[in-house]
Amino acid sequence: MPNRFSGKVVVVTGGAAGLGRAFALAFAREGAHLVLVDIDEAGMRETTRLVEQAGGTASSHRCDLSREDEIGSAADAILAERDHVDVLINNAGLHAGQIARDFFDVGLEKWQHYFAVNCFAPALLAEKLRSGLANAKGVIINQSSMASYVPATAYGITKATLNAFTFAMANQYAGDGVRAVAIAPGLMATEAAQEGVEDANWERLKSMQQVGRQGTPEDIANLGVFLASDEGSFINNQVYLCDGGNSLRGWRG
Ligand SMILES: NC(=O)c1ccc[n+]([C@@H]2O[C@H](COP(=O)([O-])OP(=O)(O)OC[C@H]3O[C@@H](n4cnc5c(N)ncnc54)[C@H](O)[C@@H]3O)[C@@H](O)[C@H]2O)c1
Repeated sequence: MPNRFSGKVVVVTGGAAGLGRAFALAFAREGAHLVLVDIDEAGMRETTRLVEQAGGTASSHRCDLSREDEIGSAADAILAERDHVDVLINNAGLHAGQIARDFFDVGLEKWQHYFAVNCFAPALLAEKLRSGLANAKGVIINQSSMASYVPATAYGITKATLNAFTFAMANQYAGDGVRAVAIAPGLMATEAAQEGVEDANWERLKSMQQVGRQGTPEDIANLGVFLASDEGSFINNQVYLCDGGNSLRGWRG
């Protein structure tokens, strides 16, 4: 069912790599114009090349999502380009290293940085794009995690908080005709996810998947396309787990 998003504008944060790039390609194949927001300019150039190769169009905005001024400038530039934002995917996130490991010894400065990127940036960007979202009667999709269900690390806490923001967004934006949902992926085979796990452990985790294969970025992108589509238009105020049944085995993070 191609071109369900023809003429529509899809903003993807973290569009320079991994799941963000998969969202960009999936929506491009459906006819959308992509707007990439990321700190990684080279990665956005590569995503743009792949989007164009798939017959789509994309623009990009370099933005450090931990900075309110840069979020504001990116949002102004996006709204100057198009007056409607049909889909905002708040996908960029910190997930590797200490945030996914430690709880003690994080310190206020790092806690604030983790929350700035993983929780506050989605709320601030949505607010700054509010007129475009309202014009389109659009949808906000926040990228949560399986780790949000039973948080055991700073990472899990930020994603549980993002779920809370999602419910608040669904309430606050309802008057604009804007929906808000979140996707909670299990362990998905992106370069970044694989880098954070030793090879032997990766194989062990793969064998834990109930569906007998590792999750792919496309599994998440396909769910995003469905949730944003007319077919998903009665879905609001929900977090969707997409983990191949992994949670039955008690993964924590
Ligand atoms: N891959 C998985 O297994 C998995 C599972 C659950 C949730 N997630 C979530 O999905 C999202 C994407 O994961 P991924 O595996 O594609 O990771 P990734 O590291 O490949 O992509 C993250 C993107 O966010 C960007 N980013 C990071 N900090 C930024 C900042 N301050 N400003 C602007 N951009 C910034 C990075 O440049 C990168 O392009 C993250 O929010 C992650 O927590 C991933």
